[in-house]
Amino acid sequence: MTDDELLARADAVATRAYAPYSGFHVGCVVLTRDGTVIEGVNVENAAYPLGVCAERSAISAAATAGLRPGDLEAIGITASPCGGCRQWLHEFRIERVAYRGADGAIRETTPAELLPDTWEF
Ligand code: THU
Repeated sequence: MTDDELLARADAVATRAYAPYSGFHVGCVVLTRDGTVIEGVNVENAAYPLGVCAERSAISAAATAGLRPGDLEAIGITASPCGGCRQWLHEFRIERVAYRGADGAIRETTPAELLPDTWEF
């Protein structure tokens, strides 16, 4: 899947975000190495810190399906990933990250570029 295709899928998913507090709807898709697409949206809560980002929704769904670090080829996100989600992208060793920047342009990058100089256990 190209970056454009990933973002088109993520845009479609974003319509299902549950974001009544921020009004900021984020959609995310992860592409597995066998070609399966797994979706996620941000899910907010009246207790604000309990909300979850779209990336963590999608990666949690992938983990629930049995996928593990190294099994995910790419991720498409309708917004720039937050700091915490960058750590998740790093953990799952997602090879290619495509997201839409604030200027509307699609950027392709890697977890290492988004979160340099991290540690290893
Ligand atoms: N959000 C995401 O879903 N992913 C990100 O990487 C950036 C932020 C969500 C969290 C919250 O529901 C809303 O966007 C506003 O921050």
